[in-house]
Amino acid sequence: MEGKTSTKISRRIILTLLYLSFTCFQKCESTSDSLSSISDPSIVVIGAGASGIAAATKLVELGFHNVRVIEAENRIGGRIHTIPFRTNVVELGAQWCHGEKNNAVYEMAEKFDLFGRTLSEYNRLDTVWSNGTIVPTNVSNHLMEIFQKLIKETKSSKGYPEGSSLGSVLRKSYMDFFAEPENTHIEHELATQFFKMYSASECASIGCSNLTEVSIPGYFTYIESEGNQIIYWKERGYVTILDIMMKKYPEGGQSTNLLENRISLGKKAKEIIWDGRKNSKVLIKTEDGDDIEADHVIATMSLGVLQESHSKLFNPALPPEKARAIESWQLGTVDKMLIEFEKPFWPSNWEGYTLLWRENDELNFPKEKKWLLDVIAFHPFPPQPNVLFGWITGTSARYMETLPEEEVLEGIMFLLRKFMPWNVSDSISFKRTKWYSNPNFRGSYSFVPVKAEKAGVTAKDLSKPITQQAGGLPVLLFAGEATNDHSYSTVHGAIETGWREADRIASFYAKKNTTQPL
Ligand SMILES: Cc1cc2nc3c(=O)[nH]c(=O)nc-3n(C[C@H](O)[C@H](O)[C@H](O)COP(=O)(O)OP(=O)(O)OC[C@H]3O[C@@H](n4cnc5c(N)ncnc54)[C@H](O)[C@@H]3O)c2cc1C
Ligand SMILES: *[C@@H]1O[C@H](CO)[C@@H](O)[C@H](O)[C@H]1NC(C)=O
Ligand SMILES: *[C@@H]1O[C@H](CO)[C@@H](O)[C@H](O)[C@H]1NC(C)=O
Ligand SMILES: *[C@@H]1O[C@H](CO)[C@@H](O)[C@H](O)[C@H]1NC(C)=O
Ligand SMILES: *[C@@H]1O[C@H](CO)[C@@H](O)[C@H](O)[C@H]1NC(C)=O
Ligand SMILES: *[C@@H]1O[C@H](CO)[C@@H](O)[C@H](O)[C@H]1NC(C)=O
Repeated sequence: MEGKTSTKISRRIILTLLYLSFTCFQKCESTSDSLSSISDPSIVVIGAGASGIAAATKLVELGFHNVRVIEAENRIGGRIHTIPFRTNVVELGAQWCHGEKNNAVYEMAEKFDLFGRTLSEYNRLDTVWSNGTIVPTNVSNHLMEIFQKLIKETKSSKGYPEGSSLGSVLRKSYMDFFAEPENTHIEHELATQFFKMYSASECASIGCSNLTEVSIPGYFTYIESEGNQIIYWKERGYVTILDIMMKKYPEGGQSTNLLENRISLGKKAKEIIWDGRKNSKVLIKTEDGDDIEADHVIATMSLGVLQESHSKLFNPALPPEKARAIESWQLGTVDKMLIEFEKPFWPSNWEGYTLLWRENDELNFPKEKKWLLDVIAFHPFPPQPNVLFGWITGTSARYMETLPEEEVLEGIMFLLRKFMPWNVSDSISFKRTKWYSNPNFRGSYSFVPVKAEKAGVTAKDLSKPITQQAGGLPVLLFAGEATNDHSYSTVHGAIETGWREADRIASFYAKKNTTQPL
C-alpha cells in the first residue's frame, strides 16, 4: 500500500516535472528556468521603448527569470529612435535629457562623458520676423519674461472658472497687460504676433495644438528636473540609455546583455485575454499568430495606441474607470524636419531662430499652405553640423505627415529663404518624422487636457494596475510616459514608470513570501 502510494506520488511528480519542463521548453527563452511558477512567475512586457526596457531589466535584476518583451516595431527604443547619419547619428524621437536632478537618464549616463551642452535653452532662441529682421534680444527677452510670468501666475490666480484652459486664461492676462497705459508703447503687432509665436513654442514643449487644450492644474503637475534642460548626446545618441539599462554599454569589461534572447521584435499584441478562463493567466495573441501566456503583463504602448485600440485589444474590455481615464487623456504630436546642407550657410555661433510672422504676411498667406505658418523654429544641432532641425506641433504636424515629402521640403525651403537673413543654399537631403501616422505610436508625448480635468481623471488612474479579485494579484500593469504623474512626456519619466511596475510585481511576491511561506 505504502509503496504503491509513494510510486503513484512520485509518478505524478515526474509527470508534472516533465510537463513543466516541456511547457518551459516551448515557452521559456531560457530552459534552465526554475519550475516553480509561484516564485518565478512569467512576465510579458509589451513594448520595448524606454519604459518597457526599464521594466524588463529591473525584473531580471530582481531575480525574475521568466521575463519576455514583445515589440511591434522591428527595432527597440520606441519614441527613442536614433539612426546613423553621416559620421554620427540623428534623433528622430527624444533628443535631450531634460534636467540633472532626480533624473534617471542623467544619473545613469552622466559618468560616461557622452553628454554635450549648448549655450541657450530652446525657448531662448532669437526671434526673426518674416521679412528677415531680427527682433532685438532685449525686446524678445522682455516679452518672453512677461509671457513666462503670466503663465506662472495662472497657477495661483483664482479669478477664472474651473475648467478654464491655460490658453484662455493666459490670453486674457496677456491682453490686459498690454492694455495698461504703461505698456502701450509696445507695438501692437509685436505684442500680438509674439503671443501666437510663444504659445506655439510652449505648445511644442507640451505637445498641444493650442494652449486652449491644456488644463491649468494639469500643467502644474509636471515637475521639472532641476538643471540644464537640453543636455544632448554628443555621439551614440539617445539609444545609448537603453544599452546602459541592458548592461550592453559600456562594451567590454563585465558587460552582458540582461535582455539577451528575451526581446521579440516585429511581434505585435492584437488581443489580451485576461479574465482567467484558464487559471489566472493572461493570454496574449499576437498578429503573427502566436499565443503567449503570462502571469503578469506590463502594457507600455503609448496612450494614443491605447485610445485607438483598447476596446478591441482587451478581452474582456477594461473596467469603465480605466477606459475613461485612457479616453480623457491626450497624446500630442510633435514632429521634426531635418534639412541637410553641403555646408552650413549660417554663422558658427548661431543657435537658431524662432519664426515670427508679420501680420500682413500671415493674412496674405495661401490657404492651402497654412500649415507652414505653424512651423515654430529652426536650429542647428552640434552632433550634426550640416543639418538644421525644424519643429512643428499639433494639428499642423498631423497635416504635414499626410503631405508628400517633396512638398514638405519645398515648403520648408520657402520658409528658410523667407526668414533667414543669409543666402540659403539648396538642401542635399531631407527627412521628416511621422509620429502620428505610425499605428504603433499615434503621437509624440502626452499632456493633461482640460477634458481630463473635467472628467476628474488623474495620472494615477492611468497607472493603476488591474488585479485579480482574490489575493490582489496584479495581472495587467500599465507603464509608459503618460502614466507618470510628474515627469510625463519625457524619457526619464518613462523609465521611472517601468521601474515602478517592476517593483510592484516584486513587492507582490515579497509580500506573498512573508505572508504565505512556501
Ligand atoms: C519627436 C519627439 C521628441 C521628443 N523629445 C524628447 C526629449 O528631447 N527629451 C525627452 O525626455 N523626451 C522626449 N520625447 C518623449 C520620449 O521620447 C517619450 O516620453 C518616451 O520615449 C516614451 O517611452 P515609452 O516607453 O513610454 O513609450 P514608447 O517609446 O512609445 O514605447 C512603447 C513601445 O510599444 C510598442 N507597441 C505599441 N503597440 C504595441 C503592441 N500592440 N504590441 C507590441 N508592441 C507595441 C511601440 O512600438 C513602442 O516601441 C520626445 C518624443 C518625440 C516623439
Ligand atoms: C520687418 O518687419 C517688422 C515688423 O513689421 C518691422 O518692424 C521691420 O522694420 C521690418 N524690417 C524691414 C527691413 O522692413
Ligand atoms: C532695448 O535696447 C534699446 C537700445 O539698447 C532700448 O532703446 C530699448 O528701450 C530696449 N528695450 C527694452 C524692452 O528693454
Ligand atoms: C487657439 O484657440 C483659440 C480658441 O479656440 C482661438 O481663438 C485661437 O485662434 C487658436 N490659436 C491658434 C494659434 O490657432
Ligand atoms: C547668394 O548665392 C547666389 C548663388 O549662389 C550668388 O550668386 C549670390 O552672390 C549670393 N549672395 C550673397 C549675398 O552672398
Ligand atoms: C520568494 O521566496 C523564494 C524562496 O525563498 C525566493 O527564491 C524568491 O526570490 C522570493 N521572491 C521574491 C520576489 O522576493
